[in-house]
Amino acid sequence: MSQSQTDQSANRVLIFDTTLRDGEQSPGASMTLEEKLQVAELLDEMGVDVIEAGFPIASNGDFESVQEVARVVKNAIVCGLARAGQKDIDRAGEALRDAKQGRIHTFISTSPVHMKHKLQMEPEDVLDAVISSVTRARNWTDNVEWSPEDATRTEHDYLCACVEAAIKAGATTINIPDTVGYSVPEEYGALIAMLKSCVPNIDKAVISTHCHNDLGLAVANSLAGVASGARQVECTINGIGERAGNAALEEIVMALKVRGDAMPFETGIDSEMIARASKLVSSVTAFPVQYNKAIVGQNAFAHESGIHQDGMLKNTQTYEIMTPESVGISKSSLVMGKHSGRHAFRKKLEELGYDLGQNAVEDAFRRFKDLADKKKHVFDDDIVALVDDEMAAGEGVLKVVALKIVCGTEGPQEATLTLDVSGEEKTVVATGDGPVDATFNAIGELFPHKAHLQLYQVHAVTEGTDAQAEVSVRLEEDGKTVTGRGAETDTLVASARAYVSALNKLIVKRRKSAPEALQAS
Ligand code: KIV
Ligand code: ZN
Repeated sequence: MSQSQTDQSANRVLIFDTTLRDGEQSPGASMTLEEKLQVAELLDEMGVDVIEAGFPIASNGDFESVQEVARVVKNAIVCGLARAGQKDIDRAGEALRDAKQGRIHTFISTSPVHMKHKLQMEPEDVLDAVISSVTRARNWTDNVEWSPEDATRTEHDYLCACVEAAIKAGATTINIPDTVGYSVPEEYGALIAMLKSCVPNIDKAVISTHCHNDLGLAVANSLAGVASGARQVECTINGIGERAGNAALEEIVMALKVRGDAMPFETGIDSEMIARASKLVSSVTAFPVQYNKAIVGQNAFAHESGIHQDGMLKNTQTYEIMTPESVGISKSSLVMGKHSGRHAFRKKLEELGYDLGQNAVEDAFRRFKDLADKKKHVFDDDIVALVDDEMAAGEGVLKVVALKIVCGTEGPQEATLTLDVSGEEKTVVATGDGPVDATFNAIGELFPHKAHLQLYQVHAVTEGTDAQAEVSVRLEEDGKTVTGRGAETDTLVASARAYVSALNKLIVKRRKSAPEALQAS
């Protein structure tokens, strides 16, 4: 077993984050390599023990992401997923070559319904595959995780035989997925307890939970697993993942922290980084966080009723079981105005968790000054939106130079747009069914492309009519999806910036798959 597997105290629960793998499997949640690296670095900094970075055999893009994440992560174990086949495992092993600490996570289905209909394999053959896959993975690393997919619908005797065989072949972590989110807490806890008492070599491995949220029980099931002896929890930021998602990291961590009296376990997570991680994942995937989502929802610390507000004013403990600060939400979020200087701005960026180079700070400062001219109060969230927008815009082929809109009750609406296309400014006037349509049509005329608009989403960064609009645009071309973001007090400028940022990402993707395809299609 690796250092971090053996060094943990009996009550230490390892946090295995699979936002970049299971999370990215949410339809539409795909991230670019740069975005994955941003997320991975933040997860590493916040104390995640294991980062599942992708499924290297799935595509060259996935391979490259796992490889790059393995190179940048400093403390966490970086994990790559593999089915039971040799090619899968070797591809994962290759992707993890440069990791300081790498783990191969290999899996195969063990439930009757999956073995019969999905794998079309006999149980004896699946058992052989368990042994050969773990053995193969051990040739690459001594840190091997094995998962029986659909474990919660697997016959107990057979599950025990597979787990025992996997550990014998060298698996150091045994993960028990509730793949279809079918289990309930008592049952899931009992399953972990059964494995602990019936598998003779179980003490040689860490038991892990991996619960899906189809019945809204993923967190409860995971915690029941911990209470029964699991010491690793697989989860994702904001609970994103296949279908209804996975157990939410922030809920697991805060449940263990706030209710240490009932559940005496600890994690290595710096909980004050939770809000930032939630915002980053929501922003790069364009998956909004539900308003009443536990821990990270916009209303999680809002008190609306008079009685509650009165109680809060007298003593915050009346209605708050944890402070907003403990998850990284600062109450005093009013930043500064147009007279604030560079130094104060740089300090604010640091406080918000940004570590930007000199040029990026200058660009962000210039945008902050522009914003402070337009907007009375600039809040922390404004700064976050502005910097994220600047990072999303990057060094793309396309840049929005100017936009003028004619709109109102008398159509057609009209957009006059100037784009910088590879250093050359081009202007066009286009009409459309509304100002957004006109703007996107103008972009299409200046830079013809075949991508389809899959998502257009606007949200106000703060309150008030002078709030910045944060726009997300998801485009799809030949099965590849990208998400662009833009933030501005003018919703239409933000929309144009978001669309152009998505196109810039698509151009990078095209370049990677066909280096000569640099131009508009
Ligand atoms: O849900 C599941 O079964 C999985 C496995 C690959 C671990 O994600
Ligand atoms: Zn899963």
